[in-house]
Amino acid sequence: MASEVRAVVSRAKGAPVATETVVVPDPGPGEALVRVQACGVCHTDLHYREGAINDEFPFLLGHEAAGEVEAVGDGVTGVAPGDFVVLAWRAPCGRCRSCARGRPWYCFDSANAAQRMTLPDGTPLSPALGIGAFAEKTLVAAGQAVKVDRAAPPEAAGLVGCGVMAGFGAVVNTAGVGRGDTVAVFGCGGVGDAAIAAAALAGARKVIGVDIDPRKLEWARQFGATDTVDARSTDPVEAIRALTGGVGVDVAVEAVGRPETLLQAFYSRDLAGTVVQVGVPDPTMTVELPMIEFFGRGGALKPSWYGDCLPSRDFPMLIDLFLSGRFALDRFVSETIALDQVDEAFARMQRGEVLRSVVVF
Ligand SMILES: NC(=O)c1ccc[n+]([C@@H]2O[C@H](COP(=O)([O-])OP(=O)(O)OC[C@H]3O[C@@H](n4cnc5c(N)ncnc54)[C@H](O)[C@@H]3O)[C@@H](O)[C@H]2O)c1
Ligand SMILES: [Zn+2]
Ligand SMILES: [Zn+2]
Repeated sequence: MASEVRAVVSRAKGAPVATETVVVPDPGPGEALVRVQACGVCHTDLHYREGAINDEFPFLLGHEAAGEVEAVGDGVTGVAPGDFVVLAWRAPCGRCRSCARGRPWYCFDSANAAQRMTLPDGTPLSPALGIGAFAEKTLVAAGQAVKVDRAAPPEAAGLVGCGVMAGFGAVVNTAGVGRGDTVAVFGCGGVGDAAIAAAALAGARKVIGVDIDPRKLEWARQFGATDTVDARSTDPVEAIRALTGGVGVDVAVEAVGRPETLLQAFYSRDLAGTVVQVGVPDPTMTVELPMIEFFGRGGALKPSWYGDCLPSRDFPMLIDLFLSGRFALDRFVSETIALDQVDEAFARMQRGEVLRSVVVF
């Protein structure tokens, strides 16, 4: 019997989201039904509401979630009812050309549930990032449900499912930051602060947080930034050069999703340095670069999809780092909220008041 649950639906570009009844099918072959316990509000959910990802409304929002597996379909062996899981928006297929070349962290054909969740009138919903977890229950491909240590509280654990993994992985997996590197992170929201914490953990000798909001800079220091730059009052490129003996950083992470911050990241690097773009641009944005600067500075420009993570490898690792006191995952949780407060949480995110609001069920 399909379940009817309460869930947050975004019906039209820019319009407020609403809590509605949603129909969740029973799990079919290869699928898992998950009772969601907590789901963080990520900026990408807001991008969906604003129509900046695509036009496939109505969306079932929410994708940074932890919960308990309630039921699994035929052929599922990786998870079982009762398992505590974090949901992933990458479940490597094992067959695409990237998986076949031994690079499952880029998987080009990641698995999602085959059946659609719908409105009661049968209208299919587009689940955000193939998850849709601002819902009491959600249906995913079983490979999207990654078992982790249940000692972690759901509201913290769920954050590993997107923003924290994206920021952490951008630094550790995409950039390969190691001991002695210098790192700048543009945008000290949930994603940027995870990048900062990862750089500190990886042994970077300088970790420079850049934001336009002083509150964010204060939090960035708590996550391990050695220096901060307020880009409203200071030119961040000059400030970063000044902090690095005039040369720039080895790695610059863009975690805002805007052309000006991508260019600042580009110009704040040392020769042969790496830019990692994590921020999601909207489709209208462009950047212009003199080719001589692109060539002459060398190094690498690397977009990072989901921190190039392998959820089955990286989620349990991040949870273990948290449980052993080396990674302050719970510090990302600014507040816990009810399901019908997601729009208010978007507004607080836009005003810079929170790192993560987390819906708890
Ligand atoms: N690549 C991925 O896989 C992935 C995964 C998750 C999120 N994201 C994206 O990462 C970005 C950050 O997400 P978040 O949840 O941390 O958002 P957030 O809103 O919490 O943080 C964004 C931060 O950028 C700051 N900012 C805005 N303009 C700035 C500027 N000009 N200079 C410096 N700082 C500026 C804001 O003050 C804020 O602190 C979003 O675009 C989101 O969609 C990407
Ligand atoms: Zn694949
Ligand atoms: Zn996200």
